[in-house]
Amino acid sequence: MLAKALAQTAAADLGSALAARGRATLAVSGGNTPKAFLQALSRQPLDWARVAVTLVDERWVPESSDRSNAALVRAHLLQGPASMARFLPLHRDTAEPEAAVAEVEGSLADALPLDVAILGMGEDGHTASFFPGGDLLEQALDPKGTAAVLPMRAPGAGEPRITLSLPVLLAARRLYLHIEGAGKRQVLEQALAAGTKTPALPIARVLAWRKGAVDTYWTA
Ligand code: 6PG
Repeated sequence: MLAKALAQTAAADLGSALAARGRATLAVSGGNTPKAFLQALSRQPLDWARVAVTLVDERWVPESSDRSNAALVRAHLLQGPASMARFLPLHRDTAEPEAAVAEVEGSLADALPLDVAILGMGEDGHTASFFPGGDLLEQALDPKGTAAVLPMRAPGAGEPRITLSLPVLLAARRLYLHIEGAGKRQVLEQALAAGTKTPALPIARVLAWRKGAVDTYWTA
């Protein structure tokens, strides 16, 4: 029910963007939580050919890896009606993300600002690839930063990552947080209580700096 409700809401946002500007951009998260949401969204009746889809972050692995967020999006979102959408992947065939950042940033330029961005969150308080202890965490979380895309390496991240920056996420016309389980709810409550004072919880920085709403979809 949660996945369906979020899919209907995101589709309505995308529909409004299409009506207002003739095109729409959506950024989704990877990981395990979004599968049912992505499937529900793929079935929404929209003029998908005018929708661009990207990711809020990507693991630096090829699409043949079961860790690839692009593979997740292709398998669960870019199906049926939504297969007409234009996909803007964040991964390139380079050994390190640093070699691809400029090209990826260029490929996203005409898709920004995002109309809709859907964030997930880990129990360590990371969102997108804003991991606690990340090597470029402060740059990525700088609300005045000028980079749209940054590489990120962190002990909890597994492989190197590439991530949209905080300013790009904050500029999204609609921003959602999709989390499930009691543990994540507790982390969210800590983050809401901490404001910007707990750099250990990167999600707190998103919640504190966002001027409009961060609509949160949670279920046990
Ligand atoms: C990723 C994500 C990441 C994700 C959280 C939650 O590539 O890992 O985009 O930020 O949203 O890690 O992941 P789960 O849904 O798997 O708990």
